[in-house]
Amino acid sequence: ASPDAYEYLPPVIAHRGASGSAPENTRAAIALAAHQGARWIEVDVTISADGIAVIHHDADLARCSDGSGLVIQKRLAELKQLDAGSWYAAEFAQERMLTLTELLVLANQLELGLNLEIKPTIGREPETVWAMHKALQQVPFEQALLFSSFSIHALQAARRHLPHVTRGLNVEAIPADWQHRLEEADCAGLHFAREFFDAQAVKAIRAAGYHCMVFTVNDPDDARQLLQAGVDAVFTDFPQRLLQHLQGRAP
Ligand code: G3P
Ligand code: MG
Repeated sequence: ASPDAYEYLPPVIAHRGASGSAPENTRAAIALAAHQGARWIEVDVTISADGIAVIHHDADLARCSDGSGLVIQKRLAELKQLDAGSWYAAEFAQERMLTLTELLVLANQLELGLNLEIKPTIGREPETVWAMHKALQQVPFEQALLFSSFSIHALQAARRHLPHVTRGLNVEAIPADWQHRLEEADCAGLHFAREFFDAQAVKAIRAAGYHCMVFTVNDPDDARQLLQAGVDAVFTDFPQRLLQHLQGRAP
């Protein structure tokens, strides 16, 4: 069995790469995260019409590219023609949507641990996980690897096809029945939104042996307080800012 990815988790994870300073989920944002000292990144994974795993947050293309329509209704060849950087700034016009295969090569080169957040189209969860499986067969990944998803169906498919990869459950708010939900999804950690942080709940989750991660935390003092409260790691769009601030942190 592979080691538990959470054992390698640093306190700061670059959310969609260094997405506060470069177009999210692109090669530029990922390279910048590494340059800024991040040791792990989080990116979002979905599939093209021809079943290729690609790195993109939204179901729709409009916000983060010069295209329109749904990612899942375009073939990879069409997605690759889109400009995935100009929406952020003109200097990133050469950015292209990454396949998961390309991302794995890049993260291996940059020695970045990886949280792949599975963002399936509802109804296409098994295909999405299967596409990830194919990419991971093509490119053996040498760094720590963690899957996560808001989708229980995706997590269950991941458990079936890639049982050795550690899984985390994404939620907005911490559910009252968090333990049941974690058991149902067979997950080792809970990832929730900053606005729903609850110190008592975090204590209970940690005491039960599960990990906690919080998204998205861009204020350094806030990050420090969350980590002191027992959160294992925070996702941030500004890794350098948080890392600089936390360097003086007591161990
Ligand atoms: O995986 C943590 C976080 O990325 C979940 O929310 O919308 O940023 O993908 P979102
Ligand atoms: Mg995400």
